[in-house]
Amino acid sequence: MTPAPTPDWPSALLTHWYAVARADQLRRKPLPITLLDRHFVLARDADGSAYALEDRCPHRQVALSAGCLRDGQLQCPYHGWRFGADGLLRDLPGHDPAQPLPAIRVPGFPLQEHDGLLWLRPCAEGSEQLPALARELAPGQRRFEWQAQWRGHVLDVMENFLDALHTHYVHAGWLRRHSQRRPCQVALDIDGERVRVDYRAHGEQSGLVYRLFESRRLGESAHFQLPGSSRLQYDYRDGSQVCISLHFSPVDGRNTRILASLHVRGRWAPRWAVRALLWPLLAHVGRQDAAILAAQQDNMARFAGRRPARMHGDVLRPVLEDWWLHGRTPDPAHARQLTLWL
Ligand code: FES
Ligand SMILES: [Fe+2]
Repeated sequence: MTPAPTPDWPSALLTHWYAVARADQLRRKPLPITLLDRHFVLARDADGSAYALEDRCPHRQVALSAGCLRDGQLQCPYHGWRFGADGLLRDLPGHDPAQPLPAIRVPGFPLQEHDGLLWLRPCAEGSEQLPALARELAPGQRRFEWQAQWRGHVLDVMENFLDALHTHYVHAGWLRRHSQRRPCQVALDIDGERVRVDYRAHGEQSGLVYRLFESRRLGESAHFQLPGSSRLQYDYRDGSQVCISLHFSPVDGRNTRILASLHVRGRWAPRWAVRALLWPLLAHVGRQDAAILAAQQDNMARFAGRRPARMHGDVLRPVLEDWWLHGRTPDPAHARQLTLWL
């Protein structure tokens, strides 16, 4: 049942949950999903419950995701074999009905639906619960969802989201301005699978997005939890809060899936306004990130095997490397406090 680990991904990564699709993407058709270089098919049974199977018909190995759903069962496009949500063969066209069906089963994998997302664990054994980071925001505060696939190793894509020091250049004027840098106390805390970075600054940010949509901040923090969940949290002096959550999952070593959501508490932010006013700006920022990550990947390919340099402000890189390259919980020795000019 458990797929053999590939040399590129530590086997510990397989025992965790990954956000792989928006729940509303999965309706009446099977949905192919690649995660950690493994191929799955997602579908809904007759009651609407989502399930996941290996995307391989055991007969002649055609992708089941190329077939269709019949009464919640997956039908292979080649000879019409049908499989139930448990992966068991349920129909074999051409078979003598007087004979029992052969006991053939497609491997199945745990799948959960939560707060608009589908979460897959690519291994039969592993942690039962979704990351707390994905469970602790109230679904009623969700204002927006978004999905993308970017070129880049998950390590580089996650670092980009959690890295404040690129924003003055890649998003110059949009998020921050180099000419208006001020000192900011940064504290990195590590508690097992959870990592928190607090930015204690002056309550304002020097970019267009802040000026148009925000008010004075009480605090800004970045949260990260294994395997790929992260959240930027903005707490305001009037008691309101905005959280941008991004859940990352590696498609393979060169492409990363991102499922994002925006949760708002105590601020005027109806869904239509977020979509019409805020989202176009954030989408532009996202395109800037996707472009720099693609350029980074292309150049890393030209200099294959070369190691990146590190400065003291790259606080999350060692944490992410512990996990994605070595499959171990982050070393608490990475915790630190420092001053950055942001
Ligand atoms: S290949 Fe799937 S039924 Fe034959
Ligand atoms: Fe960015």
